[in-house]
Amino acid sequence: MLKVDVGHFLAGAEEELKIYQEPFFRFQERLDSCAYPFTLSLEEGRKIPAMEAVAERLRSAYETFLVLGIGGSSLGIKALVQFLKGPYYNLAGSPRLLVLDNISPHLARQLTDLLDWRRTGLIYISKSGSTPETAANFIYFYQVYREAGGRPQDLVFICDPGDNGMNRIARELGAEVFHLPPPLPGRYSVLSPVGLFPAALLGISGEELLEGARRVHEVLTAKGPETNPLFLLGGGICYWSARGKNIHVLFNYETLLSEFGFWFMQLWAESLGKKLSLTGAEVRAGTTPLACVGTTDQHSLLQLFKEGPDDKIYGFVTIEEKPEVVLPSLFTTEKEYAYFGGRTLGEQLAVEQLATEISLVREGRPCYHVALHDVSPASLGALFYFFEALVVFVAECWQVNPFDQPGVEEGKQITYALMGRKDYEARRPQFEALVEEFVRRRRIYTV
Ligand code: PA5
Repeated sequence: MLKVDVGHFLAGAEEELKIYQEPFFRFQERLDSCAYPFTLSLEEGRKIPAMEAVAERLRSAYETFLVLGIGGSSLGIKALVQFLKGPYYNLAGSPRLLVLDNISPHLARQLTDLLDWRRTGLIYISKSGSTPETAANFIYFYQVYREAGGRPQDLVFICDPGDNGMNRIARELGAEVFHLPPPLPGRYSVLSPVGLFPAALLGISGEELLEGARRVHEVLTAKGPETNPLFLLGGGICYWSARGKNIHVLFNYETLLSEFGFWFMQLWAESLGKKLSLTGAEVRAGTTPLACVGTTDQHSLLQLFKEGPDDKIYGFVTIEEKPEVVLPSLFTTEKEYAYFGGRTLGEQLAVEQLATEISLVREGRPCYHVALHDVSPASLGALFYFFEALVVFVAECWQVNPFDQPGVEEGKQITYALMGRKDYEARRPQFEALVEEFVRRRRIYTV
């Protein structure tokens, strides 16, 4: 499904990877017995027929769907739609799918005015059901939807099956509901109703997405460390991180992969950036992910990558099969144009990627390469699952929990208290004092 080249990445370091064999065997055993929560995705296929039935019903009633979610409840959807449909697919007409994943008074106003709300459906996605950004967007747009005559039973809610306000509201309204398996964390949930329902709306095969993931799962559990791409890449990443490479650049050579880059950044950062180890020791683990797009960022970041600090590793992601777009022979008396005649855009993209990788390798920068076979749901499912597994294996090596995110809690609690959430009333004075102190220490100069 995927080809992973680690030759230049590991050059000379293979022996040093032996220390990661023990965590790898532990990882492989847990993967094989599906003990990690992200493997729950492999079971999500049984929900697809029900999702497809609802998707078909809604497609005949609405021409645009507005998805409300954030983090793990939006990034995978954006990656999926971008990869399989492209950034301009909404121009092709119905069904259109828009994702709103931020608090933006400007966008809220624009969408209110821009969309034909008699023909716009709402999809509300939040694993916890309590995320304040998505909840606020939902109550705002629910009102707009209702005022335009939208039917409550056409709303789609995707969340945890637990006892939360979202489930209660869904029951009260008679909305359609799809549940995620409770242990599946948000940022690993793209291969669950979170990604599979929007996929069904757009006619993308959920079965094929899962098939790609399943095939990667089989290879990763079957191969020994010497030939297992996950061990070699994950071990290599740990090797380089121990030698001061603190930034993990993912250079995606296709605009179709640009949103995948943002999905990767959340997965990498939230899963591996941890203060405490599994035993409670302070470790401050993590490397900083940075996604970029080739060829575009050759004209933006490459200068820094080549000549700036030697603190990064580079992953190139490419797609082997490309449509043949042949360039005509035009302006042949001009040397800047003459050489294109008969060559293809695919050739040029491949050459530029190779040139960039060679140029970084010659500078001594550690580069790996993941090649997808084609633009298909199976290839994307494989890519999602491979990177989820990679993160979990690296977490085994670093001995941190890749499934929690304690570092985002404090900001959430301050928000709840300051916005007046009832169960945070008691902590409000404490947070207000914090804000007062913070504001007092500001030194603002005007220009
Ligand atoms: O990975 C995670 O759990 C988080 O990043 C969540 O996806 C994010 O906070 C959104 O949460 P929820 O889906 O509960 O609204």
